[in-house]
Amino acid sequence: MLYKPNHQPITGTILIADDQAPNRELLEELLTTQGFKVVAVPDGAAALRELNTVPTDLVLLDVMMPHLTGFEVCEKIKANPDTYLIPVILITALSDRQDRIEGIRAGADDFLSRPVDRTELLARVRSLLKLKQRTDELERAESVLFTLARSIEGKDPYTHGHCERLSEYSARLGEHLGLSEDQLIALRRAGVVHDVGKIAVPDAILLKPGSLTADEWKLIKEHPVVGERICAPLKSFRFVLPIIRHHHEKFDGSGYPDGLRGDAIPVTARALQIVDVYDALTTDRPYKRAFSITDALQTMKQEVGKGWWDPHIFDQFERLVRSGTADFLSRSAAAGAER
Ligand SMILES: [Fe+2]
Repeated sequence: MLYKPNHQPITGTILIADDQAPNRELLEELLTTQGFKVVAVPDGAAALRELNTVPTDLVLLDVMMPHLTGFEVCEKIKANPDTYLIPVILITALSDRQDRIEGIRAGADDFLSRPVDRTELLARVRSLLKLKQRTDELERAESVLFTLARSIEGKDPYTHGHCERLSEYSARLGEHLGLSEDQLIALRRAGVVHDVGKIAVPDAILLKPGSLTADEWKLIKEHPVVGERICAPLKSFRFVLPIIRHHHEKFDGSGYPDGLRGDAIPVTARALQIVDVYDALTTDRPYKRAFSITDALQTMKQEVGKGWWDPHIFDQFERLVRSGTADFLSRSAAAGAER
């Protein structure tokens, strides 16, 4: 279980932006007396500057400010990948419906009406800070997994950059195939963590230059199941788990771990494996030079003929590569993937 009930008092750093000094001071006083750390600034530009330097857990924005309005600041916070998870409360005039609609469009998490009611302010602040704490815990857990996956990748100089390319290109292929937003996010994550189960494979086997014994192969073949088990506790990875488990299945049922066949293999896993194989072929490995684009596609076409890869997805992938819309063609040889 990831989350234990947390009975610690809710704390955090709150950024207040309001051009009216008395309003600002009132909020600051209300919050500091409750033990929160407060940073108060007089305008939106200063708020954005603070967000870049001070780790912030919550933002309180007055809507009516000169230069940048609260809506504009909120929109910028929510458009920035570094800050979009920070909750924002907009302070609007009492019962101004239009302001609230505009605030929702700007991505605000909650609203407060002026004059600000102390009890309501503290209730909303505490509730959003609790949510932020959970998001932070989740982010930390994801970041541990990504670090673990990258450290496994880092063991082999030939796979340098493989995860990032796999993430980027399989998401692009997924987009081309019309997959859902959830599936695209899952493909990006799976690009990094799909081989995390190799943590259970000793380096002597993982990096062995010669051919593997039957027992060594058996151990390698466990990595999709081990990887799935490692990532399973993360609820946000529920669309990633099937990709991890099934990224070595083959279209004719000859793959592992479950010998799934055809459409029974999740479409995301079928997409990722095509990019994985392509990346392995077009980059240098200890035992071979990088294939040219044409040779790699030709080899994969033969493998489609053998029944290994999904012919439709391969077809779409080939189009994508040949159309040049993806920069698959320009990268230098530096990486690979296991077959
Ligand atoms: Fe793998």
